[in-house]
Amino acid sequence: MHFSRTSLKRIFSMNIGVIAALSVILAACGGGSSSGGTTSTSIHPGCTAGSNTKLVKVTSVHKVGWSQNALDGAWRFAEEASIVQAAKAHGFQLLPTNANNSDNQQVQDIENLINDRPDVLLVDPHTEDAEVKPILDARKACIPVIVVDRDVNESQATPGRDFATFVGSDFQKQGAHAADALIEALGGPATKATIVELTGTTGSSPAILRGGGFDGELATKAPGIKIVAEQTANFARATGQQVMATLIQQYPNIKGVFAHNDEMAIGAITALKAAGKHPGQDIKVVSIDGTKDAINLVLSGEEYAVVQSNPRLGALTFDTLDKYIKGEDLPAWVVQPDKVFKKADGSAAAYQPDAF
Ligand code: AHR
Repeated sequence: MHFSRTSLKRIFSMNIGVIAALSVILAACGGGSSSGGTTSTSIHPGCTAGSNTKLVKVTSVHKVGWSQNALDGAWRFAEEASIVQAAKAHGFQLLPTNANNSDNQQVQDIENLINDRPDVLLVDPHTEDAEVKPILDARKACIPVIVVDRDVNESQATPGRDFATFVGSDFQKQGAHAADALIEALGGPATKATIVELTGTTGSSPAILRGGGFDGELATKAPGIKIVAEQTANFARATGQQVMATLIQQYPNIKGVFAHNDEMAIGAITALKAAGKHPGQDIKVVSIDGTKDAINLVLSGEEYAVVQSNPRLGALTFDTLDKYIKGEDLPAWVVQPDKVFKKADGSAAAYQPDAF
């Protein structure tokens, strides 16, 4: 086949025209490229994919990526349902993933979601440090991130620059409330007693902050109450039971247990009973979450108190996203307020029908 110089030029400029038109259509669909390093999408104004160092703005949202760290208990199922419901209520398409308590899996999930080009990404990080890199990768790819429930290490990824904001509970305050409840259960600030602490997943923000809040409050308010063992049970009921079964043999005289979540407390209560103890009488137990199973133990007297950690974060998260789309400045932290549930003041009974 033979082409003259003029017809070759015409074919070349026609192709350029088609490529340019396709690029405009792709950009309008939110399909900006992250590989070339120069394209910015129309819904993420001013963002240059591949080299972005600033907070990503977003002007409209259809597709929302959702990286969940695990689906392994009442708390996580309630959180998941709340996110799914709120996304639906806003008319957004949700792309859900479940990392099954694996940092490696969650890093991979987030990178896969980035490749799927959602307009916004929601991330509930398994631990504080491991998911920092993919969150920074999302920012570089011009995908704004909202961190939900568990925080990342904010000295490595900063809200207002690397991600839009953190939506979640005050874990440190929860720990302090748990200490206040256990001090009360054990007879007040002058009490002398020994207790054990079952901690959550090592490196996760709730384990770090609940532990810090509890230990600090206890040392300040009731220095006679000593923590003789702190051991992780990974926020899991079966592990809580195993760990408690060993600890009660080692420390048969303890008078209290603080578990970083309800699941571990429920497992611990089973182990204490198997060891011949009477939770609620000779050993006081306090935990955090607000599951139906734990609230029922409060009502039966086997647990002294449950500090709420509200998993229904969907409405707050998507209301925050609405504000972000409107261009409002967000605070670094959108706080989910929590309560304390006890039998004595009627708060556990009042909350029970709403428990998850
Ligand atoms: O991040 C919140 C914590 O994670 C909840 O307390 C716990 O039940 C879950 O595993």
